[in-house]
Amino acid sequence: MRAAGRTTTMWWYCLVLGAQSYATDCPPVPATAMAGQRATANATALAAREVAATLRRDAPAPGAAADVLRAVLQSRDDFLLILRNRVFVDRAFLTKSKHAAHAAFVASAARRVRLGNVAYRFSAGTRGVKRSSCRPVPTAVIAKVGGHRQCGALVPNPYFGPDLDAWDVAEDVVPFAARSSKALWRGNISSRPCDKDAGNRARLEACALSVERPDLFDAYCPHVNGCAPRDPDQCDAAGERLVAKTYGGDVFPHASTTESMRRAFRAPATIARGYVEPRKFASSKYLLHLPGAFTGSYSRNLNGLWRRGAVVLLWAAAYTEFYFPALEEGRTHLVVDACSAPSVIERLNADPRRAEALAAAARAVHDSLLCADCLARYFASVVNHFRRHFALGPVLDHDRRKLADCDQLDLLEVRGARPWRDPYGRALPNGHLDLRNVSVSECEQLFSVEGG
Ligand SMILES: *[C@@H]1O[C@H](CO)[C@@H](O)[C@H](O)[C@H]1NC(C)=O
Ligand SMILES: *[C@@H]1O[C@H](CO)[C@@H](O)[C@H](O)[C@H]1NC(C)=O
Ligand SMILES: *[C@@H]1O[C@H](CO)[C@@H](O)[C@H](O)[C@H]1NC(C)=O
Repeated sequence: MRAAGRTTTMWWYCLVLGAQSYATDCPPVPATAMAGQRATANATALAAREVAATLRRDAPAPGAAADVLRAVLQSRDDFLLILRNRVFVDRAFLTKSKHAAHAAFVASAARRVRLGNVAYRFSAGTRGVKRSSCRPVPTAVIAKVGGHRQCGALVPNPYFGPDLDAWDVAEDVVPFAARSSKALWRGNISSRPCDKDAGNRARLEACALSVERPDLFDAYCPHVNGCAPRDPDQCDAAGERLVAKTYGGDVFPHASTTESMRRAFRAPATIARGYVEPRKFASSKYLLHLPGAFTGSYSRNLNGLWRRGAVVLLWAAAYTEFYFPALEEGRTHLVVDACSAPSVIERLNADPRRAEALAAAARAVHDSLLCADCLARYFASVVNHFRRHFALGPVLDHDRRKLADCDQLDLLEVRGARPWRDPYGRALPNGHLDLRNVSVSECEQLFSVEGG
């Protein structure tokens, strides 16, 4: 009996070990925000819960609402004010590159859902706010390079639309089985200082895989002109340590350099293959997503991937965006790196039912979190969290006297945006905003006793 029991146990160990080495010949990926928590029935609520946790961390004992609002309204180049469901910024706000698009996004959200009165600081930094710049005031960020523990409440990045009416577009329907079985990616690779180069390094790793395994990868620069990677042997881990220290979060180590990365670096023409229109991404079963070339944080490319009816493969990195808490690795997407990506794609090709299930779950991420109404509702919930946490309602709704000095402000109302299309998805230029000048006397009226 005992002998038989031991034999069974040993057989079981072999099976488990065998399965593990089949699944993970690669070193484990460090824990990251994109590894996802468990998706729940209400993914929007899950994402919003993260905002509440952030506010408790950033401002455990918020000051008087009037003081908080005065501080916000003094940051002329980054406050956004919503009153009576209308959007106001100072002219200085529009001197920053991604701010116009954020204001257009908010104005279009206000046409879909009623937004409470609020004022907050908006940071468009791709990496989020530095530890040293965190303030106990409502602060909206578009990404956190080091993961959720960084300060600021996550809002959608400015590349959804930015006018939400332009965001919900019909997709090409391509049957899954008829699609290419290679992982598709297109993007530029540039050379940045070591503490900002993580995304370019990841991009070089992925493109080098296309040279090694052209049967599995179609990851290339669109053109050799946008393809100038840094020498992959140049940066050590100091850059990653600096990012972790400056922004918060753990050090996320980069993979070691391979021979094919060195070859691709020396001959960038070998990793350049022609532009692919976003619409054409629906011709692939697998869409690879690489971190951004600018700082290695988020990349706008991901916004549009979920709805293409393909499996989304997220390249392992530490950054997070607003909806990541609602993702679940293994169900909504898979996390890959240079070591694991080839075997992950081979296994998906051998198991088309699993691949189709992942593609359907990715599509559901778009439909439940990234649809135009979903984005508007999520943004409205961030506004409500700001209002509740900083107790803004009693002041902003009922007595706005003395919050701002209208002689010091140059207020504009942002009413929307004219359509804007760019093949590379660049930020909305200011000229495309529908703006209205707010006179000093109108400003004084806005900041009077009367609320509503
Ligand atoms: C999901 O949560 C959001 C935010 O808390 C809420 O507004 C919405 O009604 C919920 N949806 C469902 C289906 O329960
Ligand atoms: C990529 O590089 C090309 C060629 O240099 C350039 O025209 C394009 O604007 C770049 N794309 C982005 C998103 O920066
Ligand atoms: C709005 O103000 C700016 C700057 O003061 C001015 O150049 C512009 O002509 C004004 N627009 C209108 C419609 O009054």
